[in-house]
Amino acid sequence: MNVPIKTNNLDAFWMPFTANRQFKKNPRMFVGADRMHYTTADGRKVLDGTAGLWCVNAGHNRPKIVEAIRKQAGELDYAPAFQMGHPNVFELASRLVTITPQGLDHVMFTNSGSESVETALKTALAYHRVKGDGSRFRVIGRERGYHGVNFGGISVGGIVANRRMFGTLLTGVDHLRHTHDPERNAFSRGVPEYGAEFADDLERLIALHDASTIAAIIVEPVAGSTGVLLPPKGYLQKLRDICDQHGILLIFDEVITGFGRLGTPFAADYFGVTPDIMVTAKGLTNGVIPMGAVFVKSDIHDAFMTGPEHLIEFFHGYTYSGNPMASAAGLGTLETYQEDGLLTRGAELSDYWADALHSLKGLPHVIDIRNIGLIGAIELEPIAGEPTRRAFSAFLDAYNKGVLIRTTGDIIALSPPLIIEKHDIDVLIETLSGVLKTLD
Ligand SMILES: Cc1ncc(COP(=O)(O)O)c(C=O)c1O
Repeated sequence: MNVPIKTNNLDAFWMPFTANRQFKKNPRMFVGADRMHYTTADGRKVLDGTAGLWCVNAGHNRPKIVEAIRKQAGELDYAPAFQMGHPNVFELASRLVTITPQGLDHVMFTNSGSESVETALKTALAYHRVKGDGSRFRVIGRERGYHGVNFGGISVGGIVANRRMFGTLLTGVDHLRHTHDPERNAFSRGVPEYGAEFADDLERLIALHDASTIAAIIVEPVAGSTGVLLPPKGYLQKLRDICDQHGILLIFDEVITGFGRLGTPFAADYFGVTPDIMVTAKGLTNGVIPMGAVFVKSDIHDAFMTGPEHLIEFFHGYTYSGNPMASAAGLGTLETYQEDGLLTRGAELSDYWADALHSLKGLPHVIDIRNIGLIGAIELEPIAGEPTRRAFSAFLDAYNKGVLIRTTGDIIALSPPLIIEKHDIDVLIETLSGVLKTLD
């Protein structure tokens, strides 16, 4: 398929998280995709080093997913999400809770990671309230956390560019320090050795605010959008212990780590730490139809199931929560993951992946390399006075050389589809090596 692109018809669409003027001068358009590759408007193949935006975990154009959507569209296009149901959403929910960490037995559906985050925060606040503990109104996030773009998410998140523009945000929020410590941990293979003590920050905030005012803390087990920041050994368990001691809910934002990214179904499995609430999206439908899911422990769900039965128990939900098309895509995706063993495939490849990534050490401007599961990050020394320019140049050059990477700040973040083969990893790393060698 060849879609004619004229530069004079690009103006109307204000693109998200994009350098619009740069893009529109020299647009980069995809018109097709299959398994590990995109096809560009000018007919080139581009290797997907980022699974779209960390979402196409099973690779592109997977028959089970395509077929499920086609079939669903002809049978039941939409059903109201409130006070009505349809079989596939219950089927999806029931199947999902068989692969989630033990205890996370109930699920609410959303349409994105951002909405999943808002849903989780609201659930945490409301949970304490229905239990008669309404003084717990605070939520704690972390510096350099990314939890989407809505007001709750940017309030608990810790990205200055997201916080600078938008007024006062949520009140009653505080932040743990981030755990990134290149002085002690640069070029760690896998989880870094030093920094479990960063979790003690939660004790500091408890001493400041008093535990009786804190509803929940939210962290990404592995932060992706802020440059692939890994939790130091023992850090997440420490957070879990402190939360348990003080009756605070622990929320994991697994929007990027969910569905096999670390070589286990969820990061909670990888680290052996189970949160009270788990936020997901992206890989849930392989990125094909927008959908998110928030998993909660039974005692949270059950706390709401009181009072007269004709009353709505939780005043929350979206017009498209669990809609038929997304549910069909979710079922097709789960089947594909299970047939291909993708929820654990990353574990088989992670050593090869780590070796390949760390072979880039020593190339110009490379100041750190990080890896876990099928995630990688290559941090570049920024050009003085021009942050992000160097990594953006690398992105453009890689694209011209046939590889899609993603950059955040001056960090190259890699998260390929979980169907990647060793020879694809070789192409990705050789191309990147060529890019880095010629980068200004
Ligand atoms: C950890 C995390 N949370 C939330 C989000 C927001 O997801 P969405 O863009 O689907 O709203 C993202 C997106 O990258 C993410 O990485």
